[in-house]
Amino acid sequence: MSTPFTHTTVLLQEAVQALIAPGTQPAGVYVDATFGRGGHSRLILQQLAPEGRLIAFDKDVDAVAEAARINDARFSIRHEPFTRLGELPAASLAGLLMDLGVSSPQIDDPQRGFSFRFDGPLDMRMDTTRGESVAEWLATAERGQMAEVFRDYGEERFAVQVAAAIDARRQERGPVSTTAELAELVAGAVKTREPGQNPATRVFQALRIFINAELEELQQALEASLNVLQPRGRLAVISFHSLEDRIVKQFIAAHSREVFDRRAPFAAPKPMLLKAVARIKPSAAEVAANPRARSAILRVAERTEVAK
Ligand SMILES: C[S@@+](CC[C@H](N)C(=O)[O-])C[C@H]1O[C@@H](n2cnc3c(N)ncnc32)[C@H](O)[C@@H]1O
Repeated sequence: MSTPFTHTTVLLQEAVQALIAPGTQPAGVYVDATFGRGGHSRLILQQLAPEGRLIAFDKDVDAVAEAARINDARFSIRHEPFTRLGELPAASLAGLLMDLGVSSPQIDDPQRGFSFRFDGPLDMRMDTTRGESVAEWLATAERGQMAEVFRDYGEERFAVQVAAAIDARRQERGPVSTTAELAELVAGAVKTREPGQNPATRVFQALRIFINAELEELQQALEASLNVLQPRGRLAVISFHSLEDRIVKQFIAAHSREVFDRRAPFAAPKPMLLKAVARIKPSAAEVAANPRARSAILRVAERTEVAK
């Protein structure tokens, strides 16, 4: 069943144009690794030739239900993490799009537990059919482990204090099970206030990234893309915070130069596998219409002709 919540697609035209040159009707195979509510997928389908194919992935059951409503023989959806795109045939893809993070329906549905703005069960899993929820993890995680997550994925200065507050609360009254309880606990432990930002923002971001293994899966999917993109195939990635963007930027940079082996100075360098093509930010008009777009960065790269 799909939820009544909607998602406004970010960088819709820009991302699809990065994959498909305007005015062309390619017959290749494309992947939308993050279907969401299908904004990018629908535009890709509009532009594909009849022999083209679009394979979409999403971990989220509601996203997959929405995708099932697309009645188009060129389209298929997989309820799988996008790391599985590495199983596609080598050099088979003309383009791969990743629009990272959570969708608005996920954030806006209190039952999903992603937001401190609504009270709900502390879940935060994109895939609710498997894995541990945030509440389950927080019930048993060690203090040091929690602090590391808050610091590494949330850049939270009061990581140690938040972990201590969660631990103390567990011992006194049992585990934290709702978003409101966690937000209140964090607000008591975080001593700084950033203008316009809820004090729990960083801790919620950290838990979401951790429980969904977002950065690890991003890194794995990027590595896999080198094998599945065909020569001149396009990689387009939209990220929403600096931790994600750093991974994408460093990945493209690392593969956009020839690598010399210092131990074999006269050997030919390893060829470059990618060519950086563009870095695009949403227009002022898009940000005004959809504030969620404000931190978005689209990076585009092209697979080089050289075989891996
Ligand atoms: C920002 S939304 C995509 C929105 C989409 N482009 C649209 O226009 O509707 C991100 C989606 O990617 C999914 N997602 C995030 N990480 C994923 C992963 N590692 N594997 C599969 N799906 C993932 C989320 O469940 C969410 O539905």
